[in-house]
Parts: sequence; C-alpha cells; structure tokens
Amino acid sequence: MNPESSPSVAVVGPGAIGTTIAAVLHEVGRTPLLCGRTSRGHLALRDGDRLITIPGPIRTNPIQIDHPVDLVFLAVKATQIEAAAAWLAALTGPETVVCVLQNGVEQLERVAPHCPRGRIVPAIVWFPAQAQPDGSVRLRGDARLSLPDAPASRVIAEAMQGTRCFVELAADFKCLAWRKLLQNAVAGLMALTQRRSGMFGRSDISRLTLGYLQECLAVARAEGAELGDEVPQAILDKFQASPADMGTSILTDREAGRPLEWDIRNGVVSRRGQAHNIPTPISDVLVPLLAAASDGPG
Ligand SMILES: NC(=O)c1ccc[n+]([C@@H]2O[C@H](COP(=O)([O-])OP(=O)(O)OC[C@H]3O[C@@H](n4cnc5c(N)ncnc54)[C@H](OP(=O)(O)O)[C@@H]3O)[C@@H](O)[C@H]2O)c1
Repeated sequence: MNPESSPSVAVVGPGAIGTTIAAVLHEVGRTPLLCGRTSRGHLALRDGDRLITIPGPIRTNPIQIDHPVDLVFLAVKATQIEAAAAWLAALTGPETVVCVLQNGVEQLERVAPHCPRGRIVPAIVWFPAQAQPDGSVRLRGDARLSLPDAPASRVIAEAMQGTRCFVELAADFKCLAWRKLLQNAVAGLMALTQRRSGMFGRSDISRLTLGYLQECLAVARAEGAELGDEVPQAILDKFQASPADMGTSILTDREAGRPLEWDIRNGVVSRRGQAHNIPTPISDVLVPLLAAASDGPG
C-alpha cells in the first residue's frame, strides 16, 4: 500500500452489513469497489432520516477485477463463502487484508480454504442492519466493530479512521466473540418457533434458554473464553427486556425460506463440545432441527 494514499478497499457482499460499511467509507470520500451477486446501479443506507446513496455499479463478475486491493471486507453470509471464492481469488494478493464481517468464532477456518493469499481478520459486528423492501438497508444502531489486537487489524482500523464506524482492537477478542456467539445461539430458538423476543417471557422457554446457555458456556470456557457465571442470565435478561416484536437475522432468513447460518451459530457448540468431551444434550436436539429447517419446506 502506498503510505501517502488511502488503501484501496472492496466490499464483497453488499447486503445489510456490506452496505453499511460501504456507506460509512463513501461518506468520507473513500468509496469502495462493490462486488455482489445481484446487479444494481447503487446502494442505499437509511440511518434515521438520512439517506446515503453509494454509487455503483455493483460488479457481479470477478473477471472484471484485474488487480488486488489492500483491504477486502467480506460480508456475505457464512453459507455463501464458497460461492464468493472467485472474488477473494481476484481481489487478494499476499499483502491484502481480508476482514470477515460474519457471526461466529470460525471465520479464519472457514474463509482460509477459499482465500489462499492475504491475511484474514475476523470481526465482531455489533450493529443491527436490515434490508428493506425497497432495496435500501436500515441501520439500527451505532456502527461498531471489534477486531483482534493484531498487526493486520491495524490496516482495517486505519482504513476506517475518520468514519463513523468505531473500530475497537480487543485484547479479549476470543471472549467477546464467544459471548456474542452465545447470544446468537439462543436467537436460533426464534428460528425454530418462528417467534420473536416475546417468547422469552414464557417460563418454559426461559428454563430451556438458561439450560442451553449453560451448555454453550461450558464449551466456550473449554475453548479458552473466560466468561463469568453471570453470562447466561444476563443474556436471557436482555432478550426478555427487548421489545416483544424484536426479531433476529436467522428468524428473517427462516421466514424468507433462505438457508440458515445454523452451523456457525449453533452447530459449532456441539462440534467443539464433542472435541472437548463436553456433553451437549440440548444442542443435540436443536442442531438437527435447525439444519432441517435450513433445507426448506420440502
Ligand atoms: N444484518 C445484521 O444485523 C448482522 C449483525 C451482525 C452480524 N451479521 C452477520 O453478518 C454477515 C452478513 O449478514 P447480512 O445481514 O449483511 O447478510 P445479507 O444482507 O444477506 O448480505 C449478504 C450479501 O452477500 C451477497 N452475496 C451472496 N452471495 C454472493 C456471492 N457469491 N458473491 C458476492 N456477493 C454475494 C448477497 O447478494 P444478494 O443481494 O444477491 O442476496 C447480499 O448482498 C452474516 O454472517 C450475519 O450473521 C449480520
């Protein structure tokens, strides 16, 4: 990268999260290259009353890319990594940093086989963003990312400097990632019942949620995440305090009949539990149900 100039940036997967990142970069004059699956002239982000339009075009063919960039934000769903591999091949060189904007704790292992060059950095995405029926994306919180405190993360922090997306380099990244995973794992229950947060007001669902969270906590600790005993109750409290109609992306995907990110959000707990000889009886019921729901109605 030329130290005098801004890094060249591409966003692969211009959906809810990708559009938000593209918008905050565009606002400060660093419009990224947009690489997607669906052809569109521009992207639009709604933030309160503000509408930010990011000029396209959205590239849809990796053959159009003739040189690597300094930084790639990979914002496809975890179920879409393989399909996006040609973008990674075209956009990455040995020095390229690939920031994976996906839920879970396995970003490195999942992306590395499809990204032979470049340095992969997992990110925790803290802001909710939702695609709207008119094709725009609504940002529903302050844009914020956590990254591991590592040299490659600094490339990302510098690229985002001056934007309104706050980037934190976290010494306790593993702990933060597992805590978020526990929250995402519980949200999987909503995809199974096809209900929103209101369901956590039921005493039976509260008991199931706490039992599931204890199981996830044991696995998280075995993986080295130092999470306290209070975490399960704190996560349940948060769901119970949410508006009853608050949904989650895995529920939205279920309602739309799309594949679910069940493996990175729920399957990981049984897989890692098995590796540590930790019994995961609740996961053993939930995971096959989520996997089957992900296959569609037939
Ligand atoms: N949304 C949130 O609030 C939120 C919050 C925290 C974490 N996350 C995580 O962030 C990740 C991204 O989620 P999201 O909500 O932004 O998903 P999304 O809205 O579905 O966006 C995914 C984007 O990737 C595009 N895409 C799919 N296959 C592609 C391919 N082969 N090449 C290029 N682009 C491709 C999709 O194109 P189409 O438009 O053609 O479908 C879509 O624009 C997920 O892991 C999610 O769990 C999301």
